[in-house]
Amino acid sequence: MTQSKIIIREAEKEDFPSIREIALSAMLHRESLSPIRDPSAAAERQRDRYAQLADQGLDSLPTDWAPAAFVAVDETNDSPEIVGYVLLALNATDDFTGEQQAYILDIAVNPNHQNQGIGTKLMQQAHKYARKNGLRYIGLSVAAGNENALRLYRKLGYIEEWKRMATKL
Ligand SMILES: CC(C)(COP(=O)(O)OP(=O)(O)OC[C@H]1O[C@@H](n2cnc3c(N)ncnc32)[C@H](O)[C@@H]1OP(=O)(O)O)[C@@H](O)C(=O)NCCC(=O)NCCS
Repeated sequence: MTQSKIIIREAEKEDFPSIREIALSAMLHRESLSPIRDPSAAAERQRDRYAQLADQGLDSLPTDWAPAAFVAVDETNDSPEIVGYVLLALNATDDFTGEQQAYILDIAVNPNHQNQGIGTKLMQQAHKYARKNGLRYIGLSVAAGNENALRLYRKLGYIEEWKRMATKL
């Protein structure tokens, strides 16, 4: 079997439509949805968000977040294919201590390419970029039932600092 050749690079403006396609096929999976929320509201909101991102790239996000994006490109075949991405902000704050931290806004890998170490590579690139920019912490939020994502984050040393809770009235 051919070994796949995956490279990680900074996203360019033309990459964002592919990012939207991966987001929509990967993010709206069952595990990302809270059991008490409305799946169609989530689908509509996420579709709008990713349409804006596809159209305007990082300009669709507030500049004071200092957002950045990296993509994983499968270069095994003649036509390279974007198979994953990570979006992060450099200018986030930990509410409790007020310390500046980086923040993972979103990460997804094309379902056909999951479980091959690509999510790990993307997260490592986000860490490297945050460290290079002088940051000592990185945070994220994840749906409580998203076991694949939780496994990836725990493997990379993330711990659960807070739990957000909600109930239906
Ligand atoms: C979460 C997500 C990004 C993980 O991406 P991924 O590319 O599958 O992640 P990885 O392959 O790096 O790691 C996942 C597992 O594959 C294993 N793996 C790593 N390299 C591997 C390889 N070459 N072959 C087989 N398995 C491998 C990892 O060890 C890990 O398993 P483990 O935790 O049991 O050790 C992906 O599941 C996804 O896109 N989910 C939907 C979107 C989502 O929920 N995003 C998170 C929002 S908070």
